[in-house]
Amino acid sequence: MKNIGVLTSGGDSPGMNAAIRAIVHEAEIRGLDVFGFKRGYSGLIENDYIRLKTADVGGIIQRGGTVLLTARSEQFKTTEGQKIALKTIESLELDGLIVIGGDGSLHGAKTLADLGVRVMGIPATIDNDIYGTDMAIGADTALNNIMQVIDKIKDTASSHKRTFIIEVMGRDSGYLAMVSSVVTGAEACIVPEVVPDYADIINILKEGYTQGKTNAIVIVAEGASTAFQVSKKLRDRGGIESKITTLGHLQRGGSPTCLDRLLGTRLGNTAVEKLVEGESGKMVGMINNRVTLTDFETVFSKRYIFQERLVELSKVLGNV
Ligand code: ADP
Ligand code: F6P
Repeated sequence: MKNIGVLTSGGDSPGMNAAIRAIVHEAEIRGLDVFGFKRGYSGLIENDYIRLKTADVGGIIQRGGTVLLTARSEQFKTTEGQKIALKTIESLELDGLIVIGGDGSLHGAKTLADLGVRVMGIPATIDNDIYGTDMAIGADTALNNIMQVIDKIKDTASSHKRTFIIEVMGRDSGYLAMVSSVVTGAEACIVPEVVPDYADIINILKEGYTQGKTNAIVIVAEGASTAFQVSKKLRDRGGIESKITTLGHLQRGGSPTCLDRLLGTRLGNTAVEKLVEGESGKMVGMINNRVTLTDFETVFSKRYIFQERLVELSKVLGNV
């Protein structure tokens, strides 16, 4: 093995840079040359890459986003686009490729593996909805971002005895909403995995105020509903007035937490190690604090483990 490629794809997530850095370091130790493709699969299609040495990845571990840039490539979803990407891989004589990204990006990685490319995947998405790892890179930083903002909102909410509906990210996943509800003491959370009971939520909010609470927080995952819709339902069905805040992309930015730096580093390091050992068509992940390998078929045939207990816990703790 002489040359390997690396790309980041889909939504950026804090800790991707830590993974890139670890890949480049481990590759250099093993005498491999690293080709970093720009803007995910678009870079593969357009033959747009930079050669990466350890000197190029200095000072990036603390930076959010991805120094390789990322993108969503519609062209790569087509057979034609995949053929062009394959040509790039062949012409540069790449012996392996590491794809860092979320569910969609890992599907793309599987497509390349099926075409005969030696590929390893690294889960990186703030949605944390990938089977085969307890945490995906970026989710912990996003949670900390959300937690800090909600703490601030609670100060102003309490001063006015207000109800706030806060919309967090999670395209098809309630992970961020569910965990942030527990750690901020929200009264309720609405996630795509559980059918919401608005009558119940209205009761909890009213009872809270009756018992002397000075604020109420409802967290909604974007994959379930919008803050606006939830606010309207609470007004129409329960006469509850609320303010809305959509957190948006601030959730995804900022310096990665210790956990995301460590996770990115360990997964990046192992991805190179496993490629060199001849593994392919697999995702590296972290389960019970151990780095694991799961083949793409298993990753995609199972749902990520949604901890319904946490939704219940947030309800119990948010109740008076
Ligand atoms: P994420 O990786 O964060 O889930 P997306 O779902 O947008 O983000 O996927 C990122 C990119 O991965 C897409 O723009 C596309 O280029 C590629 N991709 C997604 N799904 C597939 C698929 N089924 N087959 C091939 N490539 C895919
Ligand atoms: O997949 C990560 C994610 O942040 C989702 O939570 C969100 O729905 C989506 O990406 C937003 O994507 P974009 O930044 O392209 O609008």
